[in-house]
Amino acid sequence: MFSLRHEFARNGFIQLRDIVDDGVREKITAAVNSLIEHPLERRDLHLATTDNTPRYMSVVRSEFIAENSPLINTLSKSEVLLDTLSVIAGTRVVPSVSRDEEYLITKQERKGDTHGWHWGDYSFALIWIIETPPIAKGGMLQCVPHTSWDKANPRIHELLCSNPIATYGFKTGDIYFLRTDTTLHRTIALNEDATWIILNMTWAAEKDLVRNLHGNDRWWEDQHAEAAKNLT
Ligand SMILES: [Fe+2]
Repeated sequence: MFSLRHEFARNGFIQLRDIVDDGVREKITAAVNSLIEHPLERRDLHLATTDNTPRYMSVVRSEFIAENSPLINTLSKSEVLLDTLSVIAGTRVVPSVSRDEEYLITKQERKGDTHGWHWGDYSFALIWIIETPPIAKGGMLQCVPHTSWDKANPRIHELLCSNPIATYGFKTGDIYFLRTDTTLHRTIALNEDATWIILNMTWAAEKDLVRNLHGNDRWWEDQHAEAAKNLT
């Protein structure tokens, strides 16, 4: 735990594939695959609050996941899971986020699909890699830890020039924990059609609970959010 905590503090990222056993991993995978059998909502937009970085992917929204997967609901509020993550984070990981941000499933499948540079509104996310192509086809995660989000003036290119960028590749079934509010991150675009699916569970730190997080950039919930410039 001592070394996990330091690695997470240093990188804003840590691989935690074995935080669950293969039985739980398979059940979550099955739950996500059944949720994406329903019609997906495609997003192709640029977001003003992150310097117009792209979102090219399909989504399953938080409320639909909450209503249709008791497993994901229960696991994301599991004390044993949250206590473990709290030790790694060095602060309480709190399952108290707005209904539209608790969960998100995203699917990238077309050449060029990507989740461009961004931060999270809340402090923590656990990402389940439900399916990823080999890294030759893209889909890896890039992170710039210890940065912060000014929605009115994100200066992402300046941050990229003045900080090291870490790149992480995954295989199907991997899980990682991310410090989302202070780690600028994106996925590398797919360089050919390929299937890339993740489940995101979001949690707050206690400091998030006193902030008003309702902006005009909730693109996952509303593709016509004020900060979104739609390309279709
Ligand atoms: Fe993210």
